[in-house]
Amino acid sequence: MTALPPSLPQSPIVQFYRWAKAPIPFLEECHKRLGEPFTIRWPGAPPTVVFSHPDQVKEILAGDANVFYGGVSNAITGPVVGKQSIFLSDGDVHTYLRRLVAPPFTGARMRAYGDVMREIANEAVSRWPLGKPFQINPAVHEISLDVVMRTIFGVEKGENFERLRSLCLQVMTRSEFFPLIQAKLGLFRPVLSQIDAILYAEIARSRAEAAEGIERQDVLHLLVSARDESGKPLSDQALRDNLVTLLLAGHETTATTLAWTFYRLTKHPEVLEKAREEIARVVGKGPVKPDDVVKLEYLEGVIKETLRLFPILPLMARDLQAPARVGEWDLPKDTCVIASTYLTHRRADVWPDPERFDPMRFVGTRVSPYAFYPFGGGTRLCVGMSFAYYEMKIVIAQALTKIVPRPVPGFEPRVIRTSTVLAPSDGMPVILEAA
Ligand code: HEM
Repeated sequence: MTALPPSLPQSPIVQFYRWAKAPIPFLEECHKRLGEPFTIRWPGAPPTVVFSHPDQVKEILAGDANVFYGGVSNAITGPVVGKQSIFLSDGDVHTYLRRLVAPPFTGARMRAYGDVMREIANEAVSRWPLGKPFQINPAVHEISLDVVMRTIFGVEKGENFERLRSLCLQVMTRSEFFPLIQAKLGLFRPVLSQIDAILYAEIARSRAEAAEGIERQDVLHLLVSARDESGKPLSDQALRDNLVTLLLAGHETTATTLAWTFYRLTKHPEVLEKAREEIARVVGKGPVKPDDVVKLEYLEGVIKETLRLFPILPLMARDLQAPARVGEWDLPKDTCVIASTYLTHRRADVWPDPERFDPMRFVGTRVSPYAFYPFGGGTRLCVGMSFAYYEMKIVIAQALTKIVPRPVPGFEPRVIRTSTVLAPSDGMPVILEAA
């Protein structure tokens, strides 16, 4: 078929407004009224065609990376992440950056970050108040920001740490509405230039340490030491752009998934009990050790089942650089094609009884990467996937050795849009009891 799939009879401005205001109801209504695939129209943008069947998800995510570009639709992050970010790149430049940026995040390296993650979680949890409503979302954001700063940027606690932390929080929390558009308008420039000054100083420090042969475990040290095939290191600009990318890509995503997981633990007491039993068996009274993490299979199932029902990024976008066939549709060059995690993860033909929360769906089974893909896929699969699972398991396991989260009576979160992700509203309050 050569025509585009159907779209709602609403102007592009109305469609954009509805998407921006309440993305999930908009997606659900399109899917219900139009079937699949459907087209979304946004002002000034090429038509966007949305798919959710795993066969088409595979065609999109595992399609020819020279045709299915992923960097174009990330362009809106440009004013923050910078031109040399892996996020914005495609083709050979993307392959080159991936080869340099991905290795610090491979499974075997996680052990080196585990102790720092646990230490940060432990300190934070010991300050959490018991017995009254407590907003878990900002609390886990603080943990995940500290994890990025210490394990990725390699900034040790001290003056620079506190300044960088408060500047990052200003960018992250200043606005709940389209911060990336605000960035495009230059509103974040003064804060960003202060962040840059600290990052360039850290890059210089890291280069000097590497030149002296000092070995460190943080990602910046590994990136400073990384060489391409011709032996060339990353430039300061490329290092800065990719550090900011890792902050943007790694902080809010992980924290928000943690907040949704705490929500699920409070909503399903039987799941909470099973997770606590597993943690007691594997970890005892703590502290969580790097070797424990792989044994926490049920907890991993809880996090995955949370990501199935609340994928914080509901769409994976690719922009066609040439005409391409997806399913039965012959789509013209420049069409934006989307694989929707949110819709795939709730398909009854893929996930029986899809609304039911059941972590066992992920325990002892291999799930198709095109039926469950909260971290995207193909050549753009999230660089930090193992890092994120590792961090989330350590934070939750360490927290549950100390506290038991309970629901705030009568509270049910709405799905809201924060800077880049879909998050629970009102800071996701819970009531903590001592474990
Ligand atoms: C629960 C936490 C996280 C989720 C759900 C998540 C999800 C995603 C998704 C959906 C993508 C796009 C994939 C695609 O287009 O196919 C992505 C890309 C990326 N993520 Fe994550 N992410 C998480 C945590 C992290 C962390 C902790 C880091 C690093 C510290 C990270 C770094 C990146 C980078 C660098 C990319 C760009 C990869 C590329 O374009 O080649 N992410 N992530």
